[in-house]
Amino acid sequence: MKLCIIGTGYVGLVTGVCFSDLGNNVICVDNNINKIQNLKKGIIPIYEPGLEELVKKNYKENRLNFTTNLKFAVNNSNIIFICVGTPTKKNSYSADLNQLYNVVKSIRNYINKFKVIVTKSTVPLTTGDHIDKIISQKKSKNLFSVVSNPEFLREGEAIRDFMYPDRIVIGTNNIRANNILKNLYDPIIKRGIKYLNTSRRGAELIKYASNAFLATKISYINEIANLCEKTGVNIEDVSIGMGLDQRIGSRFLRPGPAFGGSCFPKDTRAILSTAKKFKTNLSIIKSTIKSNEQRHGILLDKIKKILKNKIKNKKITFLGVTFKPNTDDMRESSSLKLIPKLHKSGAVISYYDPSGIKNNFQKYKNVNFVDKISTACKNSDLIILHTEWNEFKNLNFTKLVKKKNFAIYDMRNVYSHKRMLVNKINYFGIGR
Ligand code: UDX
Repeated sequence: MKLCIIGTGYVGLVTGVCFSDLGNNVICVDNNINKIQNLKKGIIPIYEPGLEELVKKNYKENRLNFTTNLKFAVNNSNIIFICVGTPTKKNSYSADLNQLYNVVKSIRNYINKFKVIVTKSTVPLTTGDHIDKIISQKKSKNLFSVVSNPEFLREGEAIRDFMYPDRIVIGTNNIRANNILKNLYDPIIKRGIKYLNTSRRGAELIKYASNAFLATKISYINEIANLCEKTGVNIEDVSIGMGLDQRIGSRFLRPGPAFGGSCFPKDTRAILSTAKKFKTNLSIIKSTIKSNEQRHGILLDKIKKILKNKIKNKKITFLGVTFKPNTDDMRESSSLKLIPKLHKSGAVISYYDPSGIKNNFQKYKNVNFVDKISTACKNSDLIILHTEWNEFKNLNFTKLVKKKNFAIYDMRNVYSHKRMLVNKINYFGIGR
């Protein structure tokens, strides 16, 4: 099939590359000429395991192409995926749909035969209706169909999530469009993956409701972990015990720092904004956002307690600063809140992250990137394991740290408490 993917950000690139790998002809479009030129050379703007190899392979085999020419791309495709960003508007909870509507207004000029126009970008409920209206102003209804097909890709696992998803959700009442998309996804459906055809608004809401639910699940376990710390219960027992109930499920019950990333914070805010528009009170999601915002304060209090209220001039090491492992993404990472606060209290901070130095911390005098775990830990008073990259999972801290009374705050519960006790390390986890 002939596809055009508009927007070569995270979602667009993964979608385009994976569909081309499934044998389709894919043209990826972006208005950033540098990005397009780089992609043609196999230079990928983001860090995602496996992506570079697939880009190079499919580009070489001529199934995947890159262009800035939207007209050419739309003219030569049957299915158009809109994958542009929908960030939170400044000083507001709602999603900024400017990029999306600009793309829609351009596409409508280039519709020359029947096109399925799919929103992959996470868009608020009723956006599909607006897109439909905008295109109908210029083109006859039988020349296009607007469909919602939300993505459920986790950063760091995106290729796998695309090829082996839990479900494929297609929001349309148009039989022709549904058949075209069912055909497109057929190689994935054949692996036994569930294909759900629902209304367009239904698909839009499934995406937000899923992300808000997962965010709530994380905040829930984070709060239960707070209670565990006060009562001497091990959160891991609680997560396992809860997860064994199939109605609850074991995933997303790992406590940690505040949840971050490009989706959960943005999507929880956006669904609240939609609910407000429709005069509905989503009080649980409101609480999730509040709970997540308060999480930084709770972690900072714990750090203060570990350092016996003496943060000034203490050497604190962050192992990992990204919001999760296997990505270089810093968006809404809790390190962006924790590090400046500790710096303000006089701590001297070193950080090491496998994805490299971060611009976010350049402005702080006493926050420095080091390119080795050993250098980062050597003179540390407190090591904060913030992101669970694999290379942090088997460290010998007694050898790495030269100071005597150093402490470890393992925000991802990577290490065994018992092993740390045996080695007489001053060790703290979350909810343990
Ligand atoms: C998420 C959704 O999982 C994906 O389906 C969606 O479409 C995009 O948003 P992503 O943001 O890449 O994916 O990361 P995810 O693995 O879901 O983690 C999000 C945040 O939750 C991270 O900060 C992570 O550390 C945190 N998290 C996740 C926990 O603290 N505990 C958990 O048990 C799981």
